[in-house]
Amino acid sequence: MISGKTQVLGVIGHPVEHTFSPVMHNAALKAMGMNSVYLAFHVLPEFLREAVAGMRALQVRGLNVTVPHKLGVVEWLDEISAEARAIGAVNTIDNRDGRLKGYNTDAFGAMESLRRQGGLEELPPLVVLLGAGGAARAILYGLLQQNEVEEILVLNRTVEKAEGLARDLDPGGRRVRVGALEPGQQARIRDAGLLINSTSVGMHPHEGVSPLVGRGSLRAGMVVLDIVYNPLRTRLMEEAEAAKGRALNGLGMLVYQGARSFEIWTGKKPPVEVMMEVALQRFGGMVE
Ligand code: ATR
Repeated sequence: MISGKTQVLGVIGHPVEHTFSPVMHNAALKAMGMNSVYLAFHVLPEFLREAVAGMRALQVRGLNVTVPHKLGVVEWLDEISAEARAIGAVNTIDNRDGRLKGYNTDAFGAMESLRRQGGLEELPPLVVLLGAGGAARAILYGLLQQNEVEEILVLNRTVEKAEGLARDLDPGGRRVRVGALEPGQQARIRDAGLLINSTSVGMHPHEGVSPLVGRGSLRAGMVVLDIVYNPLRTRLMEEAEAAKGRALNGLGMLVYQGARSFEIWTGKKPPVEVMMEVALQRFGGMVE
């Protein structure tokens, strides 16, 4: 029941009507019997500052931030976590008695998915990351936090973007190498214990294509995380399984980043199995 004490949570984005976050968070809030509601707010870029001021004025307890506001919102907040600062993007705002702090839970989401669903308590010494966009930036940050990872090879269509990412997150150039996403990289990819795709190749409406150029880069025992979740099974995942590797889609990352935001706002661990179930219902088999 909505009452005078109901706390408001939500997401701001543009566009925002297709966001899955309200379904996932409201399912978790309901399962825990909490007097909170999670709504989607359509915020045009020119109103971002007012939206943040409104969050303060209306005492909205917490917000997720999605495209295109993850970078722009930084300048209107009181504090930014070390992680969000390094990644350069905020996906979660916590309103603690009027003080707004920005966090980024995407790196946590990816690492937690690898641990829990990929069975990787420890990551392998060599990881290959495909792509150099916003998602890659968060994932690269997460990988660099894992001391057992000795080298991360970032491959991107536009090499300059991979170079920029490496410069920002590994300024000493000790652990990150970069290269072009091309067939010549096959042997290096085969050496990796973990391959992560953060490009949009294979994502709806471009199902059926794989970001891997050239066959034979995948091998048995390799873990492949494709952060795409629409469709739930991509061409790359099929290729990984055909090579007897282990394939994960992006649903785990989506659910675990949400779970971490939930914990930041409420101080409670949400029921991730409930969140995963609604995510599977939403994305299972349906491509729109
Ligand atoms: P996100 O925030 O989801 O990471 P993004 O910042 O737009 O999205 O990044 C998209 C990534 O997918 C980039 O690495 C992009 O490569 P470029 O930097 O060369 O643009 C990659 N990408 C998109 N379409 C691609 C394609 N057809 N082939 C190879 N890479 C592609």
